[in-house]
Amino acid sequence: MRSTIRTMADTLTITDNRTGKQYELPITDGTIRAMDLRQIKTGSDDFGLITYDPAFMNTASCRSRITYIDGDKGVLLYRGYPIEQLAEHSTYLETAYLILFGELPSPKQLEVWTWEITMHTMVHENIKKFMEGFTYDAHPMGVFVSTVGALSTFYPDGKQIFDEHSRLRQIHRLIAKVPTIAAYAYRHSIGRPYVYPDNDLSFPGNFLNMLFKMTEIKFGVNPVLERALDILFILHADHEQNCSTSAMRGIGSSHVDPYSALAGAAAALYGPLHGGANEAVLRMLKEIGSVQNIPGFIKGVKAGEGRLMGFGHRVYKSYDPRAKVIKRIAEQVFEVTGRNPLLDIALELERIALQDDYFVTRKLYPNVDFYSGLIYQAMGFPVTMFPVLVAIPRTAGWIAQWEEMLLDPEQNITRTRQIYTGPKRRPYVPTAKRG
Ligand code: ACO
Repeated sequence: MRSTIRTMADTLTITDNRTGKQYELPITDGTIRAMDLRQIKTGSDDFGLITYDPAFMNTASCRSRITYIDGDKGVLLYRGYPIEQLAEHSTYLETAYLILFGELPSPKQLEVWTWEITMHTMVHENIKKFMEGFTYDAHPMGVFVSTVGALSTFYPDGKQIFDEHSRLRQIHRLIAKVPTIAAYAYRHSIGRPYVYPDNDLSFPGNFLNMLFKMTEIKFGVNPVLERALDILFILHADHEQNCSTSAMRGIGSSHVDPYSALAGAAAALYGPLHGGANEAVLRMLKEIGSVQNIPGFIKGVKAGEGRLMGFGHRVYKSYDPRAKVIKRIAEQVFEVTGRNPLLDIALELERIALQDDYFVTRKLYPNVDFYSGLIYQAMGFPVTMFPVLVAIPRTAGWIAQWEEMLLDPEQNITRTRQIYTGPKRRPYVPTAKRG
């Protein structure tokens, strides 16, 4: 088929050369509606034109008021607020409120919100027993995914997704309980007893307590690490329609409870192409081994022998704004934990790459994962915990996107189209007659 396409100010005119017919499609917010293409038919028995877009590279699936990214300019806004300002002045709990409810909370709203989250951090004792069923070396992310899914059986009221009060209760539970589940998963993987939440501590302080407390009566939270973790949580709280968020919306569109949908979103994050890049960065830095080996490594990358992990991004074609913040907190963390020797390799790699034509012309800059693994490692986390550390704060984004989807009258159960390439209709062949 050949068609000619001509655009006017706010319409797209399509001439179908098969039929000679012209169609005028409205353009709104820089998009045409895929369903408007369906009217383009060769005859009454023609299904109508559809689009083919593997991996949804050029398809907007929703209208969203939550997160804005300008990849060319390196801009990331939550509800209009720049990520750098939130990282500087806000806390994760305040940012989660902003992402979920659209506005920064008043002092009273923040107090109530913080109280509600603090009061929901405990998990049912049977959750502990459930977790004990995993093998001693179970991957904490696998444990996290399964346990979050299991929460749906503990909170059957979660099914009342169109009851505003019920939704709010599940939101409190999810934001509050994911750190507890994550910490239990970690303690399980190293064979230490689970630590109950301490309501006197901040959100990140309590998480550190549940991870690292030993026999002391009261866990002493290091304020620098507490703040650094809180900032890392802010940076990871949402990132618009990425793979796991699309999973959350897609699963939620069947009207399942939010625990089951969130388990699916976390499972998407478990994949190495999504939540595993920071682990790959650490492996790469270890392989390089020393600053002297960097030129040889870069040469290999340019020759197509591998990628510079932690560089490049599907959306950001300039410096990832989150990477800038992370680089700054890395220095603060290392003052407490001691310098991670891999940092020198990372800094030199970045310096060389940012001057090299190969990386400059392809707009390859450090992404969020380039420095985050180094910080997590310095704070004492094993690499298996890295995706879990993203899942905790991303819970705010996942639920906000889920709720937005539920309340959007234009949304429906997700179902894409396909181009069928299999065999045409054919009769069944009995076993004895098959060659
Ligand atoms: N190192 C070396 N070359 C690279 C890199 C890299 N990290 N990233 C892209 N390129 C090159 C490609 O080889 C290609 O070169 P060519 O035009 O000569 O063929 C060009 O840059 C464009 O690459 P694409 O793969 O088309 O870019 P895309 O935007 O699809 O890829 C991606 C983005 C997957 C993140 C890529 O940059 C990459 O693999 N980076 C390393 C892995 C990584 O850090 N992932 C984490 C991303 S952040 C996140 O998901 C949280």
